[in-house]
Amino acid sequence: MEKIAIAIDGPAGAGKSTIAKAVASKLGIAYIDTGAMYRAVALNILRNKLQISDIDKICELTRNTDIAIKGGRVFLNGGDVSREIRDNEVGKLSSPVSAIPYVREKLVELQRKMAQSESVIMDGRDIGTNVLKDADVKIFLTASIDERSMRRYLEFKSRGCSVDLKSVKSDITKRDELDTTRKLNPLKPADDAVIIDTTSKSIKEVIEEVLSIIKARCNDAL
Ligand code: DC
Repeated sequence: MEKIAIAIDGPAGAGKSTIAKAVASKLGIAYIDTGAMYRAVALNILRNKLQISDIDKICELTRNTDIAIKGGRVFLNGGDVSREIRDNEVGKLSSPVSAIPYVREKLVELQRKMAQSESVIMDGRDIGTNVLKDADVKIFLTASIDERSMRRYLEFKSRGCSVDLKSVKSDITKRDELDTTRKLNPLKPADDAVIIDTTSKSIKEVIEEVLSIIKARCNDAL
């Protein structure tokens, strides 16, 4: 099989990871969740009790930190942090952390290396516009703020976290604002991305839609 690269971007709660994971498994290619990498950096900052204003210390810490994704699990200095990075506090901090230039530089370099060796489907905020500018297919998934907040709320509930819908919506609104207005590689659809609004669509419908776009563009490679 020829090597392919698929970029899936979009705001928090748009369904990127659910869709990307399912599509990757159907196509038999690797799935890379780049948001998980920013979350791992945020968790490291919390563990080391640094403040978001300690930019120099954050850069130093990140320089000496090993972040890896293997078999869908996320590792911070060799330890599996796949569950911990989903905590609400880590998610909230990951947004300002992702605006630090050195953090982006280090993670983008890692992400590009991952896509060099094998076919990948990568999800995030700047995959189509920056990390994999030459991706074979670029998808931008979005949904209304109410729908995205409800999805995140249900996700937290299913993990036994005590959260209320209003604060989940307020956190997502703040993250949207930070992610779309930061100077470096803000969240926005690439000019050549296909935009899919998932608001009133089922997961199955979106998976089928994404698969048919990929098959139409990469048929020879699949
Ligand atoms: O997708 P997520 O919620 O796990 O992402 C966590 C944060 O990481 C998000 O608020 C923005 C940042 N991020 C980014 O800046 N660039 C990416 N490619 C992926 C995530």
